[in-house]
Amino acid sequence: MKKKLIELQVNGEGHSVAVKPNDTLLDALRDHLGLVGTKEGCSIGECGACTVLLNGRAVLSCLTLALDAVGMEITTIEGVSQGESLDPIQQAFVDHGAVQCGFCTPGMILTAKELLEVQKHPSVDEIKHALSGNFCRCTGYTKIVEAIRAAAIQNPPAPFTKGGD
Ligand code: FES
Ligand code: FES
Repeated sequence: MKKKLIELQVNGEGHSVAVKPNDTLLDALRDHLGLVGTKEGCSIGECGACTVLLNGRAVLSCLTLALDAVGMEITTIEGVSQGESLDPIQQAFVDHGAVQCGFCTPGMILTAKELLEVQKHPSVDEIKHALSGNFCRCTGYTKIVEAIRAAAIQNPPAPFTKGGD
């Protein structure tokens, strides 16, 4: 199949990548750009290990064509920390023992980033709902939920609104 040269914007940098029409975004990130922090689990949209952000929205990169990511800002786990400092969600995962083998962790963290962007102080149920497409075979989820709650506490408090106004 003939390859096409496309430009992908990943973690704030532009990359020219030669892809086949049926290459997934996961293929482009891991095989072409060497960004292996994005994990390949099931390859059929069921485990969430391949989750990345596209314009801030969590998507499954195994089900997204690389061609469809052109013109969008792609964020992978490699782009989440600020220099030497871990992102608050990453730090909370470390602090709360939410990482064991680590295979699910990049996808969990990117899913949590989208959640905490749209919902600054989610309830436990809202966190569980957001994580429902991300499988972990090690931790039993309790510590992951605790970590995301701890990261959310660092968000500014919701503005006070008077009832009835
Ligand atoms: S590898 Fe994409 S959902 Fe499992
Ligand atoms: S920490 Fe091993 S799969 Fe989640």
